Amino acid sequence: MKELVIIIRPEKLETVKSILDDAGCGGMSISNVMGCGTQRGMTEDSVNLIKGFKTTINLLPKIRVEVVVPDKKVDGIIADLRERIPTGHVGDGKLFIRNIEDAMRLRTGERGDKAL
Ligand SMILES: Nc1ncnc2c1ncn2[C@@H]1O[C@H](COP(=O)(O)OP(=O)(O)OP(=O)(O)O)[C@@H](O)[C@H]1O
Ligand SMILES: [Mg+2]
Repeated sequence: MKELVIIIRPEKLETVKSILDDAGCGGMSISNVMGCGTQRGMTEDSVNLIKGFKTTINLLPKIRVEVVVPDKKVDGIIADLRERIPTGHVGDGKLFIRNIEDAMRLRTGERGDKAL
């Protein structure tokens, strides 16, 4: 099992939901977060304008999607994200991939992939 932590632009949430639905994911968790990447929260235009000047960090609204999936689904989901999420501009987001040791559906006690 792997956990995919997908941080995206808010307007891409529907696309991510549809990718995860198509992959047959058993669930997902979504949160609103504030964040920045290498541009420290500047937009593409302002980065070009003030390149070389020291600035403070600005945080932009993003959405964080957490989903735990069986190993066999990981590559397909990643390929779909790579195909459908980028706009070609900075700030498209990031994907973190974690190993998950085990899971349990609390209602039934099912473990592993069956719990997802
Ligand atoms: N190293 C990181 N650790 C945790 N969260 C991060 C990290 N990098 C990016 N994020 C999260 O992802 C969001 C989008 O990052 P972003 O796409 O701007 O990354 P980037 O490395 O600057 O790439 P790009 O140059 O394409 O903008 C950030 O606002 C932040 O919420
Ligand atoms: Mg960035």
